[in-house]
Amino acid sequence: MQTSIVMAIITAALISSPVAAANYGYGSSAANCVALTFDDGPDEALTPRLLDLLEQEGVTATFFLVGEHVEAQPSIARRIASEGHEIGNHSWSHPILTRLTAEQIAAEWARTDAAIFAATGIMPEVVRPPHGAVNRAVTESAGRPVILWSIATLDWLHEDVDFAAHRVLARARPGLIVLLHDNQPIVVEETARIIAGLRARGFGFSTVSDLLAGRPC
Ligand code: NI
Repeated sequence: MQTSIVMAIITAALISSPVAAANYGYGSSAANCVALTFDDGPDEALTPRLLDLLEQEGVTATFFLVGEHVEAQPSIARRIASEGHEIGNHSWSHPILTRLTAEQIAAEWARTDAAIFAATGIMPEVVRPPHGAVNRAVTESAGRPVILWSIATLDWLHEDVDFAAHRVLARARPGLIVLLHDNQPIVVEETARIIAGLRARGFGFSTVSDLLAGRPC
């Protein structure tokens, strides 16, 4: 439980301080790693196209899946896992968890864990609460690292590839955790632009867990 809270705080600290990356215990070989994270899928149409792009680019990412979408699209969840991406738990029905009872929060995590395990054989090792809404009850019930983000592309709000890419590239630094949504129409194009821009600046790509463990990317 303590670890989860600490991780949330460290991740939040990363938003304002590039120095915080050192707190993850990076070696020099991992110094230029960033993590792309995709929330709210799997999406029947867009997630497969995004996976094609990531495969073509040789980029490994993290997908925070919504349980009811996994139940609807288990084969896409299976493909995400089989292609080497990390899967995290993003709740069952995408509520604001801080408004729920402890029992309801626990059910959101547990039902999603079960759906992801049924589809992929993998139990998620990280969670992300919808809307980043966190309190002690949420972090304690998660029982594993709660991952927020350093920068959001706001793809759900603006649907603007230039805006999304600029937001990320203007803040590019080691340890960056980028939030995108694989159920938004611009996701493939924004991801392509962001990958190209980060690569041009010398960054490589990790899953969230590899990033936090300081593994090379
Ligand atoms: Ni979400």
